[in-house]
Formats: sequence, C-alpha cells, structure tokens
Amino acid sequence: MTADDQHGLPAALFERVDESADTGFYREPRFVAHIDQATIDALTNFYRDAIPAGSDVLDLMSSWISHLPDDITFGRVSGLGMNEAELAHNPVLDDHRVHDLNVDPQLPYPPASFDRILITVSVQYLTRPFDVAQSMLTTLRPGGDVYIAMSHRCFPTKAIAAFRQLSANERVQLVSAYLSMSGFDDVRFIDRSPDVGDPLWIVAGTKPAP
Ligand SMILES: C[S@@+](CC[C@H](N)C(=O)[O-])C[C@H]1O[C@@H](n2cnc3c(N)ncnc32)[C@H](O)[C@@H]1O
Repeated sequence: MTADDQHGLPAALFERVDESADTGFYREPRFVAHIDQATIDALTNFYRDAIPAGSDVLDLMSSWISHLPDDITFGRVSGLGMNEAELAHNPVLDDHRVHDLNVDPQLPYPPASFDRILITVSVQYLTRPFDVAQSMLTTLRPGGDVYIAMSHRCFPTKAIAAFRQLSANERVQLVSAYLSMSGFDDVRFIDRSPDVGDPLWIVAGTKPAP
C-alpha cells in the first residue's frame, strides 16, 4: 500500500494541523500521565486479564509508563516511541527503540516476535495506520492479540483530523477498520471505562492461525 492509499478513505481524514516532523514535537520528554489514575487502574486490570504470564509484549507508541501489572512476570517487554529519555525511564522495558511510525510504518522487529502488541492513548497520532496495522499483524505470533486503548484526550495539533471530527463511536469504528481491513480476526470493542474518570475504550484483534 502506498502512503496515499488508505483503503479508499478520504486523505483529509489523516491530515494534521501540525504536519512538521514528529521528532521536533516529541524532542523534550513529558513525564506525565495522559489519562487519570482510575483509568490507568482499569487498563492495568484489563492487561492482567488479557495478557498471560510469560507473554512477549511490544508497547508501541510507548513512553515512561506502560500500565502493565507489576504482579505478573512477562517475557520480553519491548517499547517503541519517539523520546529516548522517556523510554529509558520506563521500568518494565527490556529494550526500546526510538522510531517514527509516520516516517516508516514498518515495525523494526522480525516477523512473529511478540504475543501481544499494545497501543495506549496514541493511535490518533498515526498518519498511516493501515500500514502500521499490517506490520503489527506480521510482527505478532499466530493467535496473538493487539490492544488499542483509547480515551478522549489528545494533543490536538498532532492528532489526525478523524480524531478531531468524528464521534467516539465513529472513532471506534475507524480503529476497528484499521485492524479488520489489515487481516486481523475477531476484531472486538471492549469498554473498560471506570465509573468516574476518563473513558477507556479498547479495540482488540487477533492474528489468525495459519
Ligand atoms: C499521549 S502519549 C502516550 C504514551 C503512552 N503510550 C502512555 O500510555 O502514556 C503519545 C505517545 O505516542 C508516541 N508517538 C507519537 N507519534 C509517534 C510516531 N510518529 N511514531 C512513534 N511513536 C509516536 C510518543 O512517543 C508518545 O509517547
């Protein structure tokens, strides 16, 4: 697929107010939480239910926190994001890479490297999400899951237009299309929003067995 081909969807949906290189925007570290504590706890509980001990996990669009439960021992935990200092401070990562997915949407890992891939409150920043989803499919092992967790906050100038213009329900449908049109099976929506706090909407998909 070329950068211009987003499954026939209007190119304007994927444009941003700030089209400058992401390296500039993410140059300085931000040691902040992007969702409130109740929502972080809900996400950690979801991961506790969904990710078996021993799994190899890739946290895409990662920073200094991955929200994984600390009472479960995972296998390899890798992180990919834009800021070296944030990634270096993330205590759960065994290894990390600085890599701009809007410049190169191919994940820099061999095929079938991970059992789970996570994207947390960041999918709105991808300008070539179908290419990233295709590469996630390759990078997962058969039967592995991707979990794309969304809420309602964002850096508006760096979010694609779709995430500024569409309703929450439409955004979930769009992210579900990223996965289903890239070959994921059992694409599903999971609402883990806490009673009080930022919403937590998760779109999950499974790599089919061969
Ligand atoms: C709102 S923060 C979320 C960080 C983390 N996932 C969390 O849950 O706190 C957005 C993250 O997306 C990453 N990101 C933004 N644009 C990116 C790009 N073009 N390629 C790779 N990562 C990107 C940034 O490094 C940043 O860590």
